[in-house]
Amino acid sequence: MSAHPSARPLESELAEAVQLVRAGGVVAFPTETVYGLGADATNPRAVARIFEIKARPRFDPLIVHVESAAAAQAIASDCPVEASRLAERFWPGPLTLVLPRRAETIPDIVTAGLTTVAVRVPDHPVAIELIRRAGVPIAAPSANRFGSVSPTTAAHVRESLGAAVDLVLDGGPCRAGIESTIIALGPEGSTLLRPGAIGIEEIESIIGEVGRPQRRLAPGAPAAAPGMLERHYATATPLYFSGDAPRWLDRGRCGRLSLTAPADAKEYRAIEILSASGDLREAAAGLFASMRRLDALGLDAIIADRFPDRGLGLAINDRLDRAAVPKC
Ligand code: TXA
Ligand code: MG
Repeated sequence: MSAHPSARPLESELAEAVQLVRAGGVVAFPTETVYGLGADATNPRAVARIFEIKARPRFDPLIVHVESAAAAQAIASDCPVEASRLAERFWPGPLTLVLPRRAETIPDIVTAGLTTVAVRVPDHPVAIELIRRAGVPIAAPSANRFGSVSPTTAAHVRESLGAAVDLVLDGGPCRAGIESTIIALGPEGSTLLRPGAIGIEEIESIIGEVGRPQRRLAPGAPAAAPGMLERHYATATPLYFSGDAPRWLDRGRCGRLSLTAPADAKEYRAIEILSASGDLREAAAGLFASMRRLDALGLDAIIADRFPDRGLGLAINDRLDRAAVPKC
């Protein structure tokens, strides 16, 4: 299971992954966003293992990955017209649609008993081949322990989940590097449940204004998408936005996570520049790997820029917000 220069797993590994999925196993696989931890979505016992491996609460539903919009229609029902417009424009791609669920196809454990189901068609040849050859939809959350930083390489998956997974398919680093944008579509309209790899502006250019749920949920309130839980995507090292970092922190023992080269770079022990040219797409692609590198240095704190709240900046800020130490 080495990294292949072609960024494609060997045929024998892919064939093994297909057999494992068919037999109820759990396989990590690359997508264009982050690595997923996949199992046959129609097999409740296989899906239960995903929750165990991730230590994920059972109330947090999974995304079902399918090979085409037609396959999505087999598990969702009464899709509003916006769903077909978005599917046509963005699938395969980093968009997840939360739609009314057809009860008979996907078991309750996948949707946490909700009347909706989250579906997406990933834009990655390995993911698509796995789904197609296994012949079943694949339920997959990100392949990391619940609440921690998402994996964008096969090595990240092995570091965090290791031997618990039956097989890790190595497809090289994920292109987008940040999770899919999640949009709920129902009779009450459209809602952005998670900003992600497709900017909300692009989505609104297709279906008009999309509702935004409250950014911060009241303590104890149920999350519309549990990825909206306040603490998520977290590094073990405390992370602060630069404006909120305590003055007493010794910058010489801190790391800096910055879009472009910061003026105060010299003060820090380590620095990660996400895009020298200030490109948000490049920044999103490297975000989680940079967070992991800084997290591995035993620093007192990570001090992060706040990004512009547009395009992929919205998704980056969302992840950093949830990783950050809550403000008192
Ligand atoms: O890019 C991605 O979306 C990656 C790759 C592997 O596809 N997957 C991913 O899955 O990020 P996960 O489980 O880490 O995040 C999925 C989010 C969770 O916050 C979950 O609560 C939400 O989707 N979700 C799933 N089904 C839902 C539903 N029926 N209603 C509302 N939220 C749902
Ligand atoms: Mg996740």
